Amino acid sequence: MHAVIRSYLLPGRYIDNAKVQKVAKDREELMNPKAFVFDAYGTLFDVHSAVSRHSALVGPNAARVSEIWRNKQLEYSWVRTTMGRYRDFWSLTEEALDFAISAVPDTNADAKPELMKAYETLDCYEEVPGVLANLKEAGQKLAILSNGSPNMLESAVNSAGLDSLLDDVFSVHFLEVFKATQATYGLVTEKYAISPEEVSFQSSNRWDIAGATSFGFNCRWINRTNQPDEYRDLPPVEQLTDLRGLL
Ligand code: LAC
Repeated sequence: MHAVIRSYLLPGRYIDNAKVQKVAKDREELMNPKAFVFDAYGTLFDVHSAVSRHSALVGPNAARVSEIWRNKQLEYSWVRTTMGRYRDFWSLTEEALDFAISAVPDTNADAKPELMKAYETLDCYEEVPGVLANLKEAGQKLAILSNGSPNMLESAVNSAGLDSLLDDVFSVHFLEVFKATQATYGLVTEKYAISPEEVSFQSSNRWDIAGATSFGFNCRWINRTNQPDEYRDLPPVEQLTDLRGLL
């Protein structure tokens, strides 16, 4: 039951009824999205869990290897999109690891096959299965929208046991561009025939939140590592420390 929207405030004061109704609709979309859509890497899956599992094998600067691996993977996605020279995300992940291994002193190059294998079965953050199960039980539509290639996403989703909780896994792969290209966010609204404001989009990546906000999604920034804000002209509707804040 919705509150009656009154078209007056004070005697003699004019108020634009259409504007009031729009605010009410925006609020309803914010509180009751038609779909909850999640970024994958860094949001559901811990990208640093691959190196953590093999840190002794990688070497004394394993954490630095993991940081550079992730940063280069993202850089390659943006630069290749800008150039119009797509290469799938799994290949970029491998090229980024090659760079990280060469760049960080005392790194054991023999760790590469183990690290690539681990990337296929990354740990999900501990609250993820419970939160998704709760949202699912409440009847929500749940999906992933990721840069990941279809095969790598499928194996990560299956190994984390999330497959039965998700309605769809959208990969940007077939568009041959990466986020934050606006068309990538359109994969969701096209398939579900809904408008961007009807989507609640969750990502730990502030640049992805900026891209999705620009597209019109209502975005929740999952700021797991307490990063400072950026892209201030494209703010999220909410900032949460992990996904439990969605419940
Ligand atoms: C993804 C990257 C951005 O899953 O983490 O799309």
